[in-house]
Amino acid sequence: MCGIVGYIGKKQASDILIEGLSKLEYRGYDSAGVAIIDNDSINVMKCKGRLANLEQKLKEAPLKGSLGIGHTRWATHGEPSDVNSHPHSNEKGTISVVHNGIIENYIHLREWLTSKGYNFKSETDTEVIPHLIDYFYNGDLLDAVMKAAAKMEGSYAIGVISSNEPDKIVAVRKDSPMIVGLGKDEYFIASDIPAVLNHTRDVYLLNDKEFVVLTRDGVKLFTEDKEQIEREVYHVTWNADAAEKGGYEDFMLKEIHEQPKAIKDTMTSRVMMGKPITLDDIKITKQQIENINKIYIVACGTAYHAGVVGKYVIERLARIPVEVDIASEFRYRNPIIDEKTLMIVISQSGETADTLAALREAKSHEARVIAVTNVIGSSVSREADDVLYTWAGPEIAVASTKAYETQLIAMYIIALFFAQNKGTLSEAELEELKKEMLKLPEKAQKCLNHKEVIQRFASKNYMHKDIFFLGRGLDYAVAMEGSLKLKEISYIHSEAYAGGELKHGPIALIEKGTVVIALATQDDLFEKMVSNVKEVTTRGARVLGLAFEGKESIEKTVDSAIYLPRTNPLFAPVLSVIPLQLFSYYVAVQKGCDVDKPRNLAKSVTVE
Ligand code: G6P
Repeated sequence: MCGIVGYIGKKQASDILIEGLSKLEYRGYDSAGVAIIDNDSINVMKCKGRLANLEQKLKEAPLKGSLGIGHTRWATHGEPSDVNSHPHSNEKGTISVVHNGIIENYIHLREWLTSKGYNFKSETDTEVIPHLIDYFYNGDLLDAVMKAAAKMEGSYAIGVISSNEPDKIVAVRKDSPMIVGLGKDEYFIASDIPAVLNHTRDVYLLNDKEFVVLTRDGVKLFTEDKEQIEREVYHVTWNADAAEKGGYEDFMLKEIHEQPKAIKDTMTSRVMMGKPITLDDIKITKQQIENINKIYIVACGTAYHAGVVGKYVIERLARIPVEVDIASEFRYRNPIIDEKTLMIVISQSGETADTLAALREAKSHEARVIAVTNVIGSSVSREADDVLYTWAGPEIAVASTKAYETQLIAMYIIALFFAQNKGTLSEAELEELKKEMLKLPEKAQKCLNHKEVIQRFASKNYMHKDIFFLGRGLDYAVAMEGSLKLKEISYIHSEAYAGGELKHGPIALIEKGTVVIALATQDDLFEKMVSNVKEVTTRGARVLGLAFEGKESIEKTVDSAIYLPRTNPLFAPVLSVIPLQLFSYYVAVQKGCDVDKPRNLAKSVTVE
């Protein structure tokens, strides 16, 4: 949540900061602002609303200068308003700060600073930072930032500039992401790589409590004890186009279409016919796998839904009991964890605060942790024992699509890897499953071809207030994800129910014309699902059915149907989610919603 950028070089900072912020708007879009140094003084411009508002203001009154910081906000402390927008400054206007995270002890710090004569303008936690730095400033900005950071509790990635040292940016991170971009005679800080990618592919990945000083001569990294650190340059291999819309209306539509490739990339060199599943960054041994008596899969949002699929497949293929938990719940319920427990955390960003906290909880009880993440060098990837990277490429739309698909693939890979090590599947069974898996990219592509049918269905149903999703087994797991997608981007109230649970309450909500999307891909549950569909159609519901080709008999029960290319029902989620994503997308477009930036949401939730 919140995106920060900083630039020092020879070009006009304003353009570069705005461009960088435009790549970070997925992190929040309640307000935006910049602070730029010109002629040894700081000029701040900030305003409520989307980045476009700030851009307009800057067009009317441009800010000159080749050093500055910028921010795009997802409001936590204090409503979205001009005054609560970042950057925040000290009273003299000599120090400006952009911040992503939450200063948890800000009330205490605010009272303390007030007692020292400091006055506050905003309701934010962030405003304590420039005042604290001001309090400690004694001619050395780095020193003052270090002393201020030592007083700050919570999470932060901050960029600081001062008119007293007008050729410098000081930055630090703790539990919030930040990278440093290394250009030619120009340097950057940013919350995420796409913000600097048009200028450089060379970056430093920062660890917690590392301080950075950027000048026009280069970048220096320090520990909190002011010892200089050497860091290897990380070269980004994907290009800037990967974070551009590439001719699509929205990032979400582009990312939906990228799924066949993302699925293929995530399997590459891991799933191969005639060869065992090989996972380079997973060092867990056969003996350790045999020792596991319980797995927790912990995640948030869409990643949690991938975890629900993971539970089904790991239990079915590797015969290890799995519990799936929402990260924010897991950490506060005193879970039973010991050295025989394995935790799998799933996180696209690798920075979700609750997921990270759950990982730390598991590690503190000696459990081994495997991280499934899309971001190299992210916090979960650094703190977990083993990492399985999803190769989805950068996902920009707030509503996750291709990351979910690759998380599913990661779940299958882990399940097969465990099955292979535990011997719960025969060689022939493993080969058969791999063969089927390798056909998924092609079949996912076929699912995208249903676009027009889904678009038509969406255009007939976009005005409904409630939509229900039904499924059993793995279909229920996908129903949850379909329902989340719909509410996230179209603001239609939707619920997912397990087919069998319908009669225990939810059926009371069904009335004439209620729209129900029924998933029926699980062969062993098909008849049962058909009965559940009948229960709702009898009460007037209009049903869209999702089934495999060859199951056209479903047409006797539903109003319209979409057929998916046949695969092993275990892999059905990879295919069945695609029509659901497209349905949400087209409903949201029909309603005129901003698909990529749904209200109140942020892509990466780095606060609890
Ligand atoms: C936010 C996003 C969701 C995402 C969830 C978990 O809520 O809007 O799309 O699924 O965070 O994010 P993660 O990066 O941990 O997968």
